[in-house]
Amino acid sequence: MDRWVISTGLDRRALLRTAGTAAAGFMVFPLSACEARNSLLGSDGAGANSLVIPQRDQGTVELGVRVFRLSVSAGQKEFAPGVASPTIGVNAPYLGPTLEMRRGERVRLHIDNELPEGATVHWHGFELPAAADGGPHQLIRPGTRWSPTFEVRQRASLYWYHSHLHRGTGPQVYAGLAAPIYVRDDEEDALDLPSEYGVDDIPLIVQDRLLDSSGRLLYPQTMHAQMMGVRGDRIFVNGTQNAVFDAGTGLLRLRILNGSNARFYDFSLSGGQTMQLVASDGGLLQRPHPIRSLRLAPGERAQVIIDLSEGRPLSLVATSPDNSMSMMGGDGRGIMRRGMMNRGRDDGGADEVLRILEIRPQGAHRSATLPTRLASFAAPDPSVAVRTRRFVLDMGMMGGGMSINGASMDMNVINERVPVGQWEIWEIANASMMAHPFHIHNAQFRVIDRGGRAPSPLETGFKDTVVVNPREQVRLLLRFEEHTDPDLPYMYHCHILEHEDAGMMGQFVVVKS
Ligand code: C2O
Ligand code: CU
Ligand code: CU
Repeated sequence: MDRWVISTGLDRRALLRTAGTAAAGFMVFPLSACEARNSLLGSDGAGANSLVIPQRDQGTVELGVRVFRLSVSAGQKEFAPGVASPTIGVNAPYLGPTLEMRRGERVRLHIDNELPEGATVHWHGFELPAAADGGPHQLIRPGTRWSPTFEVRQRASLYWYHSHLHRGTGPQVYAGLAAPIYVRDDEEDALDLPSEYGVDDIPLIVQDRLLDSSGRLLYPQTMHAQMMGVRGDRIFVNGTQNAVFDAGTGLLRLRILNGSNARFYDFSLSGGQTMQLVASDGGLLQRPHPIRSLRLAPGERAQVIIDLSEGRPLSLVATSPDNSMSMMGGDGRGIMRRGMMNRGRDDGGADEVLRILEIRPQGAHRSATLPTRLASFAAPDPSVAVRTRRFVLDMGMMGGGMSINGASMDMNVINERVPVGQWEIWEIANASMMAHPFHIHNAQFRVIDRGGRAPSPLETGFKDTVVVNPREQVRLLLRFEEHTDPDLPYMYHCHILEHEDAGMMGQFVVVKS
């Protein structure tokens, strides 16, 4: 249990103190029952709050380099009205600014750690030198500054930055150490998509949080929470509960980041309207895909455009697919909707609809259209690969052996050495009964197939995080294009943060070929 106790700082101890009480509850009742009960409190409709839009930070250009100044510090936030909880934020009490940068430019980020504990800041989705990655090896000690610099190679998209503290990522992200990054580029600018930040182009960091009976933020450290990942019973978007956004008419672009520690979401519009899916983790798809529902696992992002030209209000809602080792796991069809699993049970948890964001358009009717082509790139061609590596994700008995290829994360072990520029197939298999979002640093990969079947629309473009369902195998095509370092590794891991912290993570170096 030791690894779950954060040894220093903040008021985290107080945050954790009530965990014992929660533990009893979680042991006695099945999780779904607890969730259902609490969430009735959480979605009692007590007021609507206007959606907080994170500050936009474009840095300052100094001698041709875009420079950002970020300070990571302790803050406070009222998750329940009138009850302050200790948090972590970047230039803010909780979460942080949206960093905006352009493809092709050089950036430098000065990060001051003003916490009483160590932290790291990782640039999720970026290809960059290992020393700039912000993984567990780039620890920023309390009171010190870290100043990585790199060239932005990414296609325009929504990326994010977050804590990657060794064995402490879950609690630090949960406390607020996470925020969006917008990369823009000429290819996308030429398309005339909605792109006015905070107006018709908004980031949605979707997170669930658990509060104790006094209304303070709680990070449970029960066996159950470690194994299943921490799931809260209240939904916050950019830190806002019961969020409402006043939009114009016309098209609205939502950049959705599942920034939750463990919860998966199936997003949809309340009236069943279609959304146009335009981008995945690593940028625009080849064309818009009309979808009615969108599944995102922790770490994944997607961009959808919704049509508000009629001026009618609508809501983004979600259900949460069950991701448990319970009753029916491992039937090879992946995780199922809670409704399917719980049908007939009267615990209020089945098909529970989570309110994500209410959207209220105002203004004159404005019709708008989307381009029919977005980006051009070829389908992945597995024949270019010169080798295949296989990664088997497992949880061991009762989640006590979180591992990849039988090994738990060891800071001193390099698990894979990959030649730079070499096309490879990475075959990710899941031997456990939970679905795991598998994330690879320093790459945007393509999905070749999933259990032999063609990828879904969300997986037809560039990805850095991909769901691997129980007993399923997903094949990825990738290469690390540029940076080498024989000593400093990058990570691959499950993005359920409690699984990552418990060791479902490995290290690779990219070496000269
Ligand atoms: Cu988003 Cu290795 O992390
Ligand atoms: Cu990452
Ligand atoms: Cu996992």
